[in-house]
Amino acid sequence: STPLLVDVDTGIDDSLALLYLLASPEAEVRGIVATAGNVPVAQVATNTLAWLDLCGADDVEVALGAATPLTIPLRTTEDTHGPYGVGHAVLPPPRRTTSPQSGAQLWIDVARAHPGEVTGLVTGPLTTLALAVRAEPELPKLLQRIVVMGGAFGHPGNTTPTAEWNISVDPEAAAEVFAAFSGLPAGRRPVICGLDVTETIEMRPEHLRLLAVRSGSAPPELLSPDDPPTVRSRASNPIVRHLSDAIRFYMDFHRTHDQGYLAHMHDPFAAAFALGRVPVTMRPATVDVELAGSLTRGMTVADWVGHWGREPNADIVTATDPVAFFEDLVERVGNL
Ligand code: BDR
Ligand code: CA
Repeated sequence: STPLLVDVDTGIDDSLALLYLLASPEAEVRGIVATAGNVPVAQVATNTLAWLDLCGADDVEVALGAATPLTIPLRTTEDTHGPYGVGHAVLPPPRRTTSPQSGAQLWIDVARAHPGEVTGLVTGPLTTLALAVRAEPELPKLLQRIVVMGGAFGHPGNTTPTAEWNISVDPEAAAEVFAAFSGLPAGRRPVICGLDVTETIEMRPEHLRLLAVRSGSAPPELLSPDDPPTVRSRASNPIVRHLSDAIRFYMDFHRTHDQGYLAHMHDPFAAAFALGRVPVTMRPATVDVELAGSLTRGMTVADWVGHWGREPNADIVTATDPVAFFEDLVERVGNL
């Protein structure tokens, strides 16, 4: 089994990543940290707690992480994720609140409680993790490793021509984290799932229909790109229904940006990787973040061949098998 600390900015694809983890028997989610990103941190926490409620996961602690990036104001992206971060979904209000301790402290407590065992999965900006490492410099050694969704290496950015969203929201935090996690041996180094791999994984309406079928919903539905936004999923399983309403917003967003009626599976892919559920190709590299460039701020730069004379500080996922990924995802989330 895989003990996990998950740090999210829920978020449509973060939502699916969480559902996938909750549906996975080997995932032991020891805590969830809400970090500001796609939406403000209070909304991230509300969304996260609401999905946990729907899944009956009352025992998973959720803590509030950073509300703003380390040095710059917060930017959010409601046009990508909807006014509340969950697309067209209207989730029931959560029945509980976040725990009294901070998100940075939860990172530290969970890592200290199980030294060397916990995988830290980050699917939002790296702000809270950077704060946790400032407070506990041993954190990189206390964790088994971190898996980060972020960056773009040989691939255009999705926020600027060269920068991916999670890094772009807080480039200083990302640079601090990659520096702090340097010097770890192979197998313990951060694994980075950037747009190079996550944009190869395209969820389409057919996948949502398969999810509805798998969850026993009748009639099986096929969302159409022509449906007006007021049309809601008819899936009888409430989790699949809310998820479909969320993802349809994401598909519309991708279509508006000429990517087709589909949704890229950024965060769910990182979750599946963390559980070892998907075949991947990885390459070691030394990764740093551009903080100064007037055109390239927030860009992740990978030194693949040792120009900098520094040891690799990350393994970058370069390819996967999207068909295997979706088979696993549909099977698991459809069983929730
Ligand atoms: C990342 O940005 C966010 O909007 C998504 O949730 C994902 O974590 C993709 O660039
Ligand atoms: Ca995210």
